[in-house]
Amino acid sequence: MASLSPLPKIFSQNPHVHANLHDHLRNPNVIYRNLSFSGLGFRCSQHASIGETRIVRKSSNQTEVMIESATQVFDVPLLSCSEAIERLKTNRETQNVKQPFLAMYSSVFGGITTDPAAMVIPIDDHMVHRGHGVFDTAAIMDGFLYELDQHLDRILKSASLAKIKLPFDRESIRRILIKTVSASKCRTGSLRYWLSVGPGDFQLSSSGCHQPALYAVVIQSESPFDSKGIRVITSSVPIKPPQFATMKSVNYLPNVLSKMEAEENGAYAAIWLDSDGFIAEGPNMNVAFVTKDKELLMPKFDKILSGCTAKRVLTLAGELVRKGELRRIEMRNVTVEEGKKADEMMLIGSGVLVRPVVQWDDQIIGDGKEGPVALSLLNLIFEDMKSGPPTVRVLVPY
Ligand SMILES: Cc1ncc(COP(=O)(O)O)c(C=O)c1O
Repeated sequence: MASLSPLPKIFSQNPHVHANLHDHLRNPNVIYRNLSFSGLGFRCSQHASIGETRIVRKSSNQTEVMIESATQVFDVPLLSCSEAIERLKTNRETQNVKQPFLAMYSSVFGGITTDPAAMVIPIDDHMVHRGHGVFDTAAIMDGFLYELDQHLDRILKSASLAKIKLPFDRESIRRILIKTVSASKCRTGSLRYWLSVGPGDFQLSSSGCHQPALYAVVIQSESPFDSKGIRVITSSVPIKPPQFATMKSVNYLPNVLSKMEAEENGAYAAIWLDSDGFIAEGPNMNVAFVTKDKELLMPKFDKILSGCTAKRVLTLAGELVRKGELRRIEMRNVTVEEGKKADEMMLIGSGVLVRPVVQWDDQIIGDGKEGPVALSLLNLIFEDMKSGPPTVRVLVPY
């Protein structure tokens, strides 16, 4: 296999070259063509033949050639399939981050792998280059899949809305998902899975994609139980229109930017309002409120994602009504004024379970402490995950 020469001195001694660039250049698996570092005044481009590289420094009127030819250094090797796989493995091994991906199923290779280096998706998959795919997640708790069937129903609905045909019938998909968790030996974490129109011809139309695909990955993680109150802000990133917000497609850029906006402002999440100004949802969770007269309020699902956790919480909340901790439960439009005046606010989703919110923008919610109803609901859902009925807990045969 071709090897790369050490970092050239001109780069390694230059204090202006960003540390990241050094990291990348040291990584034999990263190939650079037409790199541009405009802020630094560098341009690095690959010319006519592979191996001939020119690095120039631009000044006001003149172009000073720093390196005429750095043959080898930026060589772009032509790899055989086994060499490419070898590099995928090396790349994984040299990454410093922990990779808790324990198993992946792909209908493209028709099986399960436990080697993270092989957990790849074809670049011509319509999901990769056009975002034409849908996904869902189910939690794994103590060797059980929580709400697998509810999440499965939702991904099938998302697939239908996204006009994605199924690669297998529902029962086969379910069996494959359980088998993937079993092969992973993971007892606490999450199962994430995708349905896509599959590989094709790189066109916008999916008519050249002839074999829909299923991918699934098992990610080991700690239980998401955390009761500490958090702060949220109102998102300035526009909400997706209802047609797209009600399906769980892979187009999560607005959700990602909304989460980043929250983090940049020291908050946990940013809350979307819908086109009429009513409270909608968070980037990967629903929201709920407890009013002063003990009503549990949740925005309707007609313009947002119908949360599996939120629906289960609404069912479990019946017990709090029976005990007198809540007076009633209602799904309806909720105004920002009502939300900010509420005694309690909470985020609900498979990633957060039930998380009390103690501040929204500048408004302290209730007395600024974790609300008792949110904490009761968190305990109820956590107990349900640990010992709920078979309708919500599917045993994984390891
Ligand atoms: C936009 C959005 N809303 C709500 C939710 C909550 O859904 P669930 O409880 O099924 O995780 C999610 C999470 O998947 C989401 O992405």
